[in-house]
Amino acid sequence: MNTYTSRKGLSEYLGGLRGGNKTIGFVPTMGALHQGHLSLIAIAQQLCDVVVCSIFVNPTQFNDPKDLEKYPRPIQSDIEKLEQAGCDILFNPEVNEMYAGNEQWHLDLGELEHLLEGKFRPGHYQGVTQVVYKLFDILKPHLAFFGQKDYQQFLVIQKMVDMLSLPVKLVMCPILREPDGLAMSSRNIHLSAEDRQQALILSKTLKWLKESFNPGGIDALQKEGAAMISAEPGINLEYLEIVDGKSLHPATADSHPVVALVAAKVGATRLIDNIIVSD
Ligand code: PAJ
Repeated sequence: MNTYTSRKGLSEYLGGLRGGNKTIGFVPTMGALHQGHLSLIAIAQQLCDVVVCSIFVNPTQFNDPKDLEKYPRPIQSDIEKLEQAGCDILFNPEVNEMYAGNEQWHLDLGELEHLLEGKFRPGHYQGVTQVVYKLFDILKPHLAFFGQKDYQQFLVIQKMVDMLSLPVKLVMCPILREPDGLAMSSRNIHLSAEDRQQALILSKTLKWLKESFNPGGIDALQKEGAAMISAEPGINLEYLEIVDGKSLHPATADSHPVVALVAAKVGATRLIDNIIVSD
């Protein structure tokens, strides 16, 4: 695997590959890689000639400085995982390589920015679009791979791509889960054994919502799901919403797809998860 820490070096190298008609696939991450990240790389490998993974803990998307500070950064084991997965290129820049001082960035993301995650993480999606825009600009990938795990993030990035007519196609990849249902996440390492057990109520409830889905009874289902999660000790529910998968507004009988999204603090760790309850 070739590792680059400079934008210039990477962009020149990829320019050469693009000139040789290679399809470039891109998997942006913040590291602390798990099977979920690696599944994105495997999907990218099926569709592209060359796969680039970035590891960059982007400071502008953290609204809580403590969260940024404690974000796990096991770079050596990440590199080993990428080597084993057969990833072609790693881009692992320092903060000052990506940001030259106090840059201004604002994209009109409309309502997407204020719903669900947007409400609980003000400014988060401005930071996400800022860094993903920069990464797309450096790499100029043909395809970029994102997880359904961050469903709203996918919609936000797709909106940026559409608004700015960026020449990249986004691919949404399925959520990878632990055998007991917990969605894989870099944050799971912060869960104590007790938290880890209590966290299962999130995926269990989502699964139940999918099994019980009935377009005529969405409100009741959402309330019942929220009650199930709130009844679990150690869990602080931020939201559970059954929404139209395109607008993220409350789902109606005409919505396609319908998605249930949840965010909760489990002990001190904030987790998110979702499920497509109806295509
Ligand atoms: P990060 O949280 O590291 O996630 C990187 C990618 O992995 C995202 O597209 C995310 O949806 C996907 N992912 C995470 N857990 C997954 C799982 N269990 N199954 C499948 N895919 C999963 O998302 C970010 O980083 C950042 O916001 C980033 C886009 C890199 C911008 O900084």
